[in-house]
Amino acid sequence: MKHKILAHLPGDFPWQVHWFPTVCSTNTLAKEMALEGAPHGTVILAGHQTGGRGRMGRSFSSPEGLGLYLSLILRPNCPASALMHLTCAAGLAACDAVESAAGFRPGIKWINDLVADSRKLGGILTEMSVNAKTGLVDYAVIGIGINCLQKKEDFPPELQSIAVSLKTITGQNVEIANLAAQLILSLHQMAENLFAPDSIMELYRKDCVTLGKEIAVISSSDTRHGTALDIDNEGALIVRFQNGAVETVNSGEVSVRGLWGYL
Ligand code: BTN
Repeated sequence: MKHKILAHLPGDFPWQVHWFPTVCSTNTLAKEMALEGAPHGTVILAGHQTGGRGRMGRSFSSPEGLGLYLSLILRPNCPASALMHLTCAAGLAACDAVESAAGFRPGIKWINDLVADSRKLGGILTEMSVNAKTGLVDYAVIGIGINCLQKKEDFPPELQSIAVSLKTITGQNVEIANLAAQLILSLHQMAENLFAPDSIMELYRKDCVTLGKEIAVISSSDTRHGTALDIDNEGALIVRFQNGAVETVNSGEVSVRGLWGYL
């Protein structure tokens, strides 16, 4: 598999690519490798994850040979506050890669979900470690999972009505090695141009399907309904709630009316 991926990359490509048949989670492995000194631009791919993870402690279904499971280690040498838009930048890179390899551009459900046909095509999990003394980012890990070859019955029952794959959307078997290479290339481009949050967020707003929609913001204590008005340059969602208050939402779960079962 690694050779197939490298065949789609330029011969002088500067990043290191690692491929493993099975891991628990490429993000967990990437964090372990980062702690052991793996350099900026270390890419970890797996054919199968036994413990694929998503945001908010959720799992990410990662069946063998059917999806793309990738994590990237970056060492951007900046304060964490300069990387607030990192998940959004990674989302754009993932959209670019799908567009190159599968011929259509997915949408993004704020903040980290790839969407096609109103269902979840993939997701992004960004994790960071900050050096307590310097306040600088020691490493950031961007994890991306994309459903590629699954048929409906390949998803767990609870996901069958809310998840979708590139195969279902395009009717074709997308080559995972090529998609992986396109993603590595678009992430490389992203990393080279990372410190331009204004232009990154301008592009992100165009791909984000949440904007203008009726949403529910779900926290541990309550669910509040409103309209997604805008996204600021740090990636936070600006919401007008039903009581008229306009507030910035930084985290938590946001359901979008019309997407995966929220009616
Ligand atoms: C989400 O749905 O909230 C994010 C899903 C992110 C999944 C990817 S697959 C590669 C990497 N390894 C993981 O354990 N998670 C990410």
